[in-house]
Amino acid sequence: MSKMHIKFHLNGQEVEGLAEPRMLLIHFLRENLKVTGPHIGCETSHCGACTVDLNGKSVKSCTLFACQADGAAITTVEGLTNPDGTLGVLQEMFREHHGLQCGFCTPGMITRAHRLLQENPTPTEEEVRFGISGNLCRCTGYQNIVKAILAAAEQLNAHKAPSSSEAVGQNVEAAE
Ligand code: FES
Ligand code: FES
Repeated sequence: MSKMHIKFHLNGQEVEGLAEPRMLLIHFLRENLKVTGPHIGCETSHCGACTVDLNGKSVKSCTLFACQADGAAITTVEGLTNPDGTLGVLQEMFREHHGLQCGFCTPGMITRAHRLLQENPTPTEEEVRFGISGNLCRCTGYQNIVKAILAAAEQLNAHKAPSSSEAVGQNVEAAE
């Protein structure tokens, strides 16, 4: 079968390669690009272990052909570290709150949580539980995963720049 040339942005870097039209994105990431954060669990779009962020949406990369990602921007768990290579906020909160045991679901879970917090920076516990309902974990009972995501939301909001009205207020105070 003839191969297709595919090019996309992965974690901010342009990558390219050849793939048969039937090749799944998860296989292209892991086998061709050696990006092994996204895991292969069910390969039937049930477990979420293969979740990646594609053009600002959480997708299960076992349900897409690699060629469908041509021209896209993809983020995997590898792309959620800080620029200096240390753990990003979500990754750090999963570590601190014991949001994992065997770790198999973790890359997909963190990638999903990243999108969830982008879409809803101040989720309730119920919204977090609903938001990760497409990602299965066999170990943790979800309790600490939810705690970790809520803690990450808190940290991310605390580090956000003050709004312009707050900033003006601070300047006024400073001038007094
Ligand atoms: S491996 Fe893709 S959803 Fe399970
Ligand atoms: S930590 Fe084992 S499957 Fe989630």
